[in-house]
Amino acid sequence: MKIKSALEFSHQLLSESIVAGDTVIDCTTGNGHDTLFLANLVGKNGTVYGFDIQAEAVNNTKALLKKNHVETDHIYLYNISHAKVDEVLPDETMISGAIFNLGYLPGGNKTIVTYPETTIAAIKGCLSHLCHNGVVIVVAYYGHPGGEREKNTVLEFGSQLDQKRYSVLKYSFLNQKHFPPILMAIQRID
Ligand SMILES: C[S@@+](CC[C@H](N)C(=O)[O-])C[C@H]1O[C@@H](n2cnc3c(N)ncnc32)[C@H](O)[C@@H]1O
Repeated sequence: MKIKSALEFSHQLLSESIVAGDTVIDCTTGNGHDTLFLANLVGKNGTVYGFDIQAEAVNNTKALLKKNHVETDHIYLYNISHAKVDEVLPDETMISGAIFNLGYLPGGNKTIVTYPETTIAAIKGCLSHLCHNGVVIVVAYYGHPGGEREKNTVLEFGSQLDQKRYSVLKYSFLNQKHFPPILMAIQRID
């Protein structure tokens, strides 16, 4: 057994919470790895919503889906902030999972990063559509300027959620150098 990295653990939690036909969200599509993972979990009868503020990221995501021969008629990619998630999703739509990878686009412009205010707005938007036992997962890369503040804001938000409605988990390594990503998972339990 090898203890999973935050990224690996995020995929484990998603695969245990999401079934074929579900609706899910990738709040930071980046190079598309999570969008592809989600698309495979929900299958062609499910729906994936993806958000990224960089056109380059949306294009990279489309290219990765194409390379992997994924049908995209049920995958909706938006070149807008994830803060608009609640405006984009139909009111009645319920999701079983959402994933955030906070930080900058790997291989892209390192100064374009996620910010606490929009991240929290997006988490709230996802929670308002989350079904019973559904999960919202945040993997925070925080080695860049402002990253520590964002990580702390996200953890503070999670720690304040009502324990009767949500189970909130923090997963992190205590002894790894160079800012290993941390994971926060919110499961709706009511
Ligand atoms: C760490 S990367 C995501 C990596 C991605 N999950 C992957 O598999 O490659 C973070 C992404 O968040 C995007 N981003 C930054 N602010 C955003 C916002 N307000 N809404 C949506 N995406 C945002 C960045 O453009 C960047 O592509």
